[in-house]
Amino acid sequence: MSLEPYSSRREALLATIGDGVVFIPTAPERLRNRDSYHPYRFDSYFWYLTGFPEPGAALVLIGGRSHASPRSILFCREKDVEREIWDGFRYGPEAAREAFGFDEAHAFGKLEEKLPDLIAGHAALWYPFGQDARWDRRIAAALDAVRARTRTGIRAPERICDPRAPLDRMRLVKDAHEIEIMRRAAAIASAGHLAAMRGCRPGMAEYELEAELAYEFRRRGASGHSFPPIVAGGENACVLHYASNDRMLADGALVLIDAGCELDGYAADITRTFPVGGRFSGPQREVYEIVLAAQAAAVAAIRPGAPFSAYHDAALRVLVRGLVDLGALTGEVDGLIESEAYQPFYMHRTGHWLGLDVHDAGEYRSGDEWAALAAGMTLTVEPGLYLRARVPERLRGIGIRIEDDVLVTVDGARVYTDAPRTIDGIEEAMRHD
Ligand code: GLY
Ligand code: MN
Ligand code: MN
Repeated sequence: MSLEPYSSRREALLATIGDGVVFIPTAPERLRNRDSYHPYRFDSYFWYLTGFPEPGAALVLIGGRSHASPRSILFCREKDVEREIWDGFRYGPEAAREAFGFDEAHAFGKLEEKLPDLIAGHAALWYPFGQDARWDRRIAAALDAVRARTRTGIRAPERICDPRAPLDRMRLVKDAHEIEIMRRAAAIASAGHLAAMRGCRPGMAEYELEAELAYEFRRRGASGHSFPPIVAGGENACVLHYASNDRMLADGALVLIDAGCELDGYAADITRTFPVGGRFSGPQREVYEIVLAAQAAAVAAIRPGAPFSAYHDAALRVLVRGLVDLGALTGEVDGLIESEAYQPFYMHRTGHWLGLDVHDAGEYRSGDEWAALAAGMTLTVEPGLYLRARVPERLRGIGIRIEDDVLVTVDGARVYTDAPRTIDGIEEAMRHD
């Protein structure tokens, strides 16, 4: 494992905060029921700065001052031969310091005792208040412990700042290490969607396609799904967060799959919509071609300097024109966009930032200004049409979304997910002789 990306990010954060202390705990283990736990997932900010996978850990970064250089300190679980027989390997502070390149590492159990000394005398404490009530209480107690010493001339931090603000700005622009992981995650997710297309047969249940995806993701080394997968046959595709995945797939219907894998903490997020029986019907083709054209128009609008809203606007224009051509809307495209007459058929935006979180960190707008795209940002492009009602009979019940993952490059955009996307490509992939 290369330590460089993580130490560079810690240095970059320290450079922006000056005389302050950053405290970022990882996520707690979460009970599922009685004594069974959910599969462990670290906190994304903690992971971004450490690459350290264990629960029971926290990062402290001490900003530099005239008499002292910056330090990064890990608190983690101690070695415990007895526990390791039950739960498996844990690094322990000494090995973790060495393996992950921290200046210091201590036992997690020492954290509360050491925290007041670590934050004392610094101008600011950077801690994500409100994320975890138990940590909030511990941090408040540490601040009180420092304030109780003010008569001895020790200063408590005057400012409490949220480290998510500078970290979100950093996370928005991916470094080379992240882009490489996301490229691999996308390849695995694409293979999962291709497997689902190939394995699909009329009469199967939606969960059987979900299983194809899960099998492909795990077999290729991803940790699993990056969010609960949607496998929605027929009209279920018009339920945006459909999650039960327990209905039968009828011949002649479409199936919409919105699923991605997580690899080394990074999400892929792909949607494909394809015919259960392997051949699009006439009306399904009509709608599919519109959504595909909307996606192409959106991707063409992505370039450095463009506002985040540009690719949504580009997709929307194509979708609304398409809705008029289909006979679902009547009127001028501009007026229909202005009055949001398309809302019953297209009710979500065309994409979001993508990274460690599927809906990744980073602002979309500040005040009235949309964020400007820059090289290294990663986002999804996911137009759709959901024709549940108020459409000509032949179109009723068709729900289609096409979602791909895109890297903003210096001169435009690179779509880095490659599951079959065109009608010909999908029908070809689903042909079985
Ligand atoms: N899968 C969640 C989304 O597409 O935003
Ligand atoms: Mn998405
Ligand atoms: Mn999705």
